[in-house]
Order: sequence, then structure tokens, then C-alpha cells
Amino acid sequence: MDVKTLAVVGAGQMGAGIAQVAALSGIEVVLIDVSPDFVQKGLAGIRAQLDKAVGKGKLKAGEAQAAIARLKAGAVEDARGAQFAVEAVTENEEVKKKVFAALARALPQAAVLATNTSSISVTRIAASVPAPERVIGMHFMNPVPVMQLVEIIRGAQTSDSVYAVTRALAERMGKTTVLSKDMPGFIVNRILIPMLNEACFGLQEGLASAEDIDTAMKLGTNVPMGPLALADFIGLDTCLSIAEVLQKGLGDDKYRPAPLLRQLVDAGWLGRKTKRGFHRY
Ligand code: CAA
Repeated sequence: MDVKTLAVVGAGQMGAGIAQVAALSGIEVVLIDVSPDFVQKGLAGIRAQLDKAVGKGKLKAGEAQAAIARLKAGAVEDARGAQFAVEAVTENEEVKKKVFAALARALPQAAVLATNTSSISVTRIAASVPAPERVIGMHFMNPVPVMQLVEIIRGAQTSDSVYAVTRALAERMGKTTVLSKDMPGFIVNRILIPMLNEACFGLQEGLASAEDIDTAMKLGTNVPMGPLALADFIGLDTCLSIAEVLQKGLGDDKYRPAPLLRQLVDAGWLGRKTKRGFHRY
């Protein structure tokens, strides 16, 4: 199946990024959220990104206009005609299951239902809908338009054909895919979050200042951001919740979140989105 129509549920940063990249790849997209205001905000953000790209000479004005014309605002019922749906709502299992129930009712049974979850079991989400073989994990990285990777996660029930369609869609969107088993954190967060957490332990123990930890790792390992800056970028609440999923799901206390990480979250200092985390913004 060549995907021509895509529904994206969740018009936040991830959903809007997925919708933007899909529309630029020639796919008709319906962007869905609980309130029309959220969708309009998501679409305005996409338009601003595309305008910026045109301004920098990275995209032709006609291509930007064509992509915008492929983007429609909608509610779940408007996903009816979509061949593929990607859910990118808040990282809460109950909320995701509700979205999947609604998508399973609205879309034809041949449609693929993908989740952009970063840590929830794809197998459990799949088990909550009829025909669970159509459910798969499609984990984009933030910021979606910039990051090359999509992790594909096969739930225990995912069919071979659903995997093939998902991989082809990600490639059409210009992404490189990797295949992960449905284990806590998948590949990226299984390895990344313990590294960010270790930076946090280092800071807590007085190993070095936040600035020096970030500079050391940025210049010493040639990554675009140091680990504390990256944790702020991802959101400290998200980092904490993934660390908890790793600790619980893998049953190993080596994944325990640093107390300092928990304290910053308790204080409401969640990183860039609250203008304060390990650093001030
Ligand atoms: N949306 C779209 N484009 C964006 C963007 C966004 N939110 N943020 C930056 N960009 C683009 C800029 O427009 C710019 O594009 P051009 O080169 O075409 O002009 C380019 O990215 C570079 O941006 P900047 O010059 O503003 O800033 P930078 O060079 O410092 O790069 C960054 C910013 C791309 C975010 C870079 O710092 C980076 O790659 N950081 C690491 C990001 C990362 O590791 N993400 C994965 C997080 S883990 C995850 O997502 C999984 C999970 O489940 C937690």
C-alpha cells in the first residue's frame, strides 16, 4: 500500500512536525486534536516553519504553498478516509488508548494505526483495539523536520505487511528507519535516558558545573547539545517518566532516576518549556 492520505492525531510539537514533513512529501494530511484551536495553532506553526525555510532559500515558495494546501484541520471522524494514522498525543496510556479506540472506529480495518509513543508498550496499546495486527510504533525524534531517524516498533501482534507499509512511509518522508522490539525505551531512550540521568547524578554529586558537564560532552563526544541541555530540550518531566518506565519495565535499579531530576520536576522546572531546568532560558 502506497500511503496517500494520513491522519495525524495531536497537533503539538511532534504531531505538527510529522504533519509538516508528510505534507512536504506529497501526502494529504488531516491534522486532528481535541480542540480546533489546538489544530489551528499547530497549522500556524507549520506555516511559520515553511515561511522560514522559504526565506532561507531552502524551499521554493510553490512547494511550501503546495504542502500547506495538503494540510487540513479536522476531528477524528475526518480521519475516515485515511489509509494510515499516527497518534502523537500526550504520553499517557489511558489517553492514547482512548484515541486508538476512536481511530479504530473511524478508519477502515485495512488502515494502519501507528503510535509515536516514546515509552509505552505498543503491544498493550494494540491489545486495546480490534484487529491489533494493524497497530505499530512509529517513533519520530524531536524536532521532527530536522532529525533523520524513525524507530519502528513491532508489537507482539504487528503484521509483516503493516511493518512494510510503515517503513515505506517513513522512507517516503525522507527518514532512515531502525527496527526495535517492543521493550521499555526501545533503542534510543534505552540508551539516551541513562546517559542524561548519569549527567544529572554527576551534577548532584558535584562532579562539575552544569555548563562544564555540557561543554565536556558536547566538545568531547561531538554531539550538538550537552546532556543537561538535551534533557531541558526534551523536558525533564518526560526524561523522568521514561527513566521510571525503564526502571520498572526492565526491573533493574540501575535505571533509577537521579533524585535531583525528580526535585527539579517537583519544583516545576521542566526545562525549556518552563524557561528553567538545568539551565535558564
Ligand atoms: N523545528 C524545525 N526545524 C528546526 C527546529 C524545530 N523545532 N529547531 C531547529 N530547527 C532547524 C533550524 O531551522 C535550522 O535549519 P537550517 O539549518 O535549515 O537553517 C537547523 O534546525 C539548526 O537549528 P539552529 O541553527 O537554530 O540551532 P542548532 O544548530 O543549535 O540546532 C537542534 C538545533 C537541531 C535542535 C540541535 O541542537 C540538535 O540536533 N539537538 C539534539 C536534538 C536531539 O537529540 N533530539 C532527539 C531528542 S530524543 C527524542 O526526541 C526521543 C524521545 O523520545 C525523548
